Amino acid sequence: MLNKDKNLSEKAIALENEYGAHNYHPLPVVLHKGEGVYVWDVEGKRYYDFLSAYSAVNQGHCHPKIINALKDQAEKLTLTSRAFYNDKLGEFEKYVTGFFNFDKVLPMNSGAEAVETAIKLCRKYAYEKKNIPEEEANIIVCENNFHGRTTTIISFSNDEDARKHFGPYTPGFIKIPYDDTDALEEAIKNNKNISGFLVEPIQGEAGVFVPHEGFLARAKEICEKNDILFIADEVQTGVARTGKLLAVDHENVKPDILILGKALSGGAYPVSAVLANNDIMEVIKPGQHGSTFGGNPLAAAVALAALTVVKEEKLAENAEKLGKIFRKELSAFAEENHFIKKVRGKGLLNAVLINDTVDSSTAWDLCLKLRDNGLLAKPTHGNIIRFAPPLVMNEEQLMDCIRIIKKTFSEFKKEE
Ligand SMILES: Cc1ncc(COP(=O)(O)O)c(C=O)c1O
Repeated sequence: MLNKDKNLSEKAIALENEYGAHNYHPLPVVLHKGEGVYVWDVEGKRYYDFLSAYSAVNQGHCHPKIINALKDQAEKLTLTSRAFYNDKLGEFEKYVTGFFNFDKVLPMNSGAEAVETAIKLCRKYAYEKKNIPEEEANIIVCENNFHGRTTTIISFSNDEDARKHFGPYTPGFIKIPYDDTDALEEAIKNNKNISGFLVEPIQGEAGVFVPHEGFLARAKEICEKNDILFIADEVQTGVARTGKLLAVDHENVKPDILILGKALSGGAYPVSAVLANNDIMEVIKPGQHGSTFGGNPLAAAVALAALTVVKEEKLAENAEKLGKIFRKELSAFAEENHFIKKVRGKGLLNAVLINDTVDSSTAWDLCLKLRDNGLLAKPTHGNIIRFAPPLVMNEEQLMDCIRIIKKTFSEFKKEE
């Protein structure tokens, strides 16, 4: 039922503007309900969600299996802290380690916390197993990375907005260009205290930048040869988003440390995790790392259900199939539409590069028009729009979305 009171959206936006910190710039749409690939605003208008909460809602909004697990567990036990055992955590740990083929898991809450955990694990491993002198371990990271918002993580970002005036910064990181294995080899040659290489298999926030084929496999080979931990941040790319369970699976790469978040819970609860084998994970001992909420029974029940859905509903296979259709259709359309410069991505993590400058408002303006036409997407820069729908989408829905995108781009006129 459409609600005629147009003021509902305005009121909700005004409340956030007045009482919330202005650390985001949301598209002006106020959502109220979600189901599968759809979300509804407070006025009752339905949209296709083409962001999936930055790839957290891979299993679709309010998946009944996940929500039932959440409800069941919420009525029994929600939080014990790790001061005591609970009867859900072990069950989840066994499932998730089997699912991704690692010996052990360390559960946390947000993606950034899991990245911090991986960094701590890597450093400790360097001091205790590789005899790197204390305080001298370095981790290689990539330019244009996005790994989260904590003080240490933004220390190795090169996004001025993310960094400026948040110093002093955490040392111990060496930045190299993304997708450049020569630079990786060079950095290792120039520094004998490298302990790890932290990398996104596809750079999501940078604008869905897909490295050339073979980059991940070659990088892993270099790391192995030099006894350096290959740390894959699959917070955005993991859990079936790119058409495989993990994006590293496209090149048959097994990371030494795997970082997961977002879709690990299907968006129903904040759950993140770091996975590694025993020789690495055992360097962390009681009292050395933790989180009050990390590994709580509610999170464990939700994540277990969320992973089960990924497997049962063959979400990776669906993402692979629909992603090919999406890129084929829009690449063909790009030949006739001068606003589209390029379409790129893997599985259902895709981006459309707009024929305009990084600081233009064209991508934003197009997203407003997409919204008016019933589809929600968000720019990653002034000239890039990310398209990442829930992976439970079917082919008919995808074709309807492609129709909306084509229509929006065809009708769009840039205001000078
Ligand atoms: C690759 C990657 N790592 C880490 C994060 C941080 O996750 P969170 O926002 O849950 O802290 C993100 C979030 O977008 C991400 O894309």
